[in-house]
Amino acid sequence: MHANKAQSDYWTSPAGLKWIEHEHALDTAMAGMLDMMLDAAGINSTDHVIDIGCGTGASTIEAAWRVPDGRVLGVDISDPLLNRATNRAEVAGAGNVSFVLADAQTYEFSDQAFDLLVSRLGMSFFSDTVAAFQNLARALNDRGKMVFVCWASIAQNPWFSIPKYAAEAKLGPQPKGDPDAPGPTAFQDCDRVVDLMARADVSNIEACSVDIALTPPGGVAGAARAASKVGPAARVIKAYSGTKADEAAIEDAVRLAFEEFDDAGGVRIPGVVNLFTCSR
Ligand SMILES: C[S@@+](CC[C@H](N)C(=O)[O-])C[C@H]1O[C@@H](n2cnc3c(N)ncnc32)[C@H](O)[C@@H]1O
Repeated sequence: MHANKAQSDYWTSPAGLKWIEHEHALDTAMAGMLDMMLDAAGINSTDHVIDIGCGTGASTIEAAWRVPDGRVLGVDISDPLLNRATNRAEVAGAGNVSFVLADAQTYEFSDQAFDLLVSRLGMSFFSDTVAAFQNLARALNDRGKMVFVCWASIAQNPWFSIPKYAAEAKLGPQPKGDPDAPGPTAFQDCDRVVDLMARADVSNIEACSVDIALTPPGGVAGAARAASKVGPAARVIKAYSGTKADEAAIEDAVRLAFEEFDDAGGVRIPGVVNLFTCSR
C-alpha cells in the first residue's frame, strides 16, 4: 500500500473515521448524488461491478440491489471503513457483495473481470491518477465502462464553502495547498481530469458538471453538525488546534447560514459534482 500510504493513514485516522461517526448524515445527504451516478451508469441486472473507494459501503449496497443477478466488489484502502461496509452489507442481506482492502491504484484485479466501475467521491485521492486509471481499466472487460462522480469546486458547493468561511472567520485562513493534490476536490477541473484519462489511454471519455441537492437529515442543526465535522471546516479547526468552544461557535454560524436552505420538506443544499464516464 506504499503508493498511497498518506491516504491509508488519513482514512484510518480520527479524521477519516468521522465517515463512520456521521455515516447516516452523510449517506442521507448524498443519496441523490448516488442515485444520479448509478442511473447514469445504465446498470444491467447481471453486471459485475467494482465500487472504488467504497468507504462504509452505501454505494456498494445500493449497486448490489441494482444487479440482482450480478455482483459488486467494494474496494477501499481503509480497514475500519471496510469493516463497517462489510457489517452493513451483512445486516442489509446483500449476498452478492464482497470487499477487498486494497490500494485501487496498484491492486492486481483479475484481468477483464468487470463490466462496470462506479465510484462516489472515491477516485480523486490517487498519488498517480494516470497509473490508477490504467490499472482500473485493465480490470474492465472489452465492453466495460467507468462512471464516477467527484466534487466540483468548493466555491460551487455551499456544503463546503459556508463551513470553510465560518471556520476561517473564527480561526484564520486555511493553509494554502495544491488544488490538484489528492483530495476531495482534486477533480474539480473537468479538463484536467479528461487529460489524465486520455493519458491513461481509456476511450469515449466524457465529463460534465451536474447540479445536485444535498439532503442532510436533522434539519439545519443536523446539516450544520455534519458539514462542520467533515470537510474544510474540520481541516481549518485541526490546523489551528481549535477548541471545543471554537467548534461550537463555527457550527452555530453554519447553522444560521444554512437556514436559507431550509424549507417545508427539509434542508436542501444546492451543489455541483463532476460526472466522468469512459470505456476501457
Ligand atoms: C470521500 S470517501 C467516499 C466514500 C464512499 N465512496 C462514499 O461515497 O460514501 C473516499 C474513500 O476513498 C478511499 N480511498 C482513498 N484512496 C484510495 C485508494 N488509493 N484505493 C482505495 N480506496 C481509496 C478512502 O478510504 C475513502 O473511503
